[in-house]
Amino acid sequence: MNIGKVSKRVERVSPFYVMDIMGKAKALEEGGRHIVHMEVGEPDFPTPLPIIEAAKRFLDTGNVHYTKAQGLPALREKIADYYDQEYNVSVSSERIFITPGASGALTVALATLLDEGDEVLTCDPGYPCNSNLVSLLSAKATAVKVDENNGFQLTASVINQSWGVSTRGVMIASPSNPTGTMIPREQLGEVVNAVKKHDGFLISDEIYHGLVYQQRAVSALEFSDDVFVINSFSKFFGMTGWRIGWLIVPEYAI
Ligand SMILES: Cc1ncc(COP(=O)(O)O)c(C=O)c1O
Repeated sequence: MNIGKVSKRVERVSPFYVMDIMGKAKALEEGGRHIVHMEVGEPDFPTPLPIIEAAKRFLDTGNVHYTKAQGLPALREKIADYYDQEYNVSVSSERIFITPGASGALTVALATLLDEGDEVLTCDPGYPCNSNLVSLLSAKATAVKVDENNGFQLTASVINQSWGVSTRGVMIASPSNPTGTMIPREQLGEVVNAVKKHDGFLISDEIYHGLVYQQRAVSALEFSDDVFVINSFSKFFGMTGWRIGWLIVPEYAI
């Protein structure tokens, strides 16, 4: 009998507590309480009006059918232009895939890269969903402890020390969730090179780019084309509920 049985993979998934806390906070809000939300990574501004208006105009065209699997070519071209303007890097739109949020991009990137038993180095503290996504693929996420001495981020030397026989790659996020720290330019270059030396993959989650106070955040694409970059319209564009993100892959993974 299989009724009531879920897969071992799903049993391994730990709860994403922040969503439970948000649910409770929203229930209190509906009951009239004033709540200052400090749980999910959600900007405190609504989706900007020009985006809302453009979306309404687009819906009126009735063009709501399947797109190419990679996503609308016009959107992918615009994202390529954005990398040119913001980071001064040239990315062919062929390397850009539209996904259901950064979550979809992370899933596709990990499914592209991991086999059963492979290990990925992640950061502790870090975004808790990463280890669940890795474990759903029957691979293993090793969360490497970071602290104030390394700016709560993985460094090249931490990566070198932690690399083991089954390690296939590294996941970073700068600015990070939950600490908000950024990997300085030089350090990011060293991380990219360290991963390359181990012949591994680097997944750079750049979802909090733009939400910074001083210098701009640096993209891993400024150092190499052989990186997987995750981003989304959720945070900087204030579109968390729209579920639109993107993944940039190296040429070999298209
Ligand atoms: C670091 C990080 N990556 C990915 C995501 C998922 O983003 P999305 O809403 O675009 O799926 C989040 C959401 O909080 C996040 O903090």
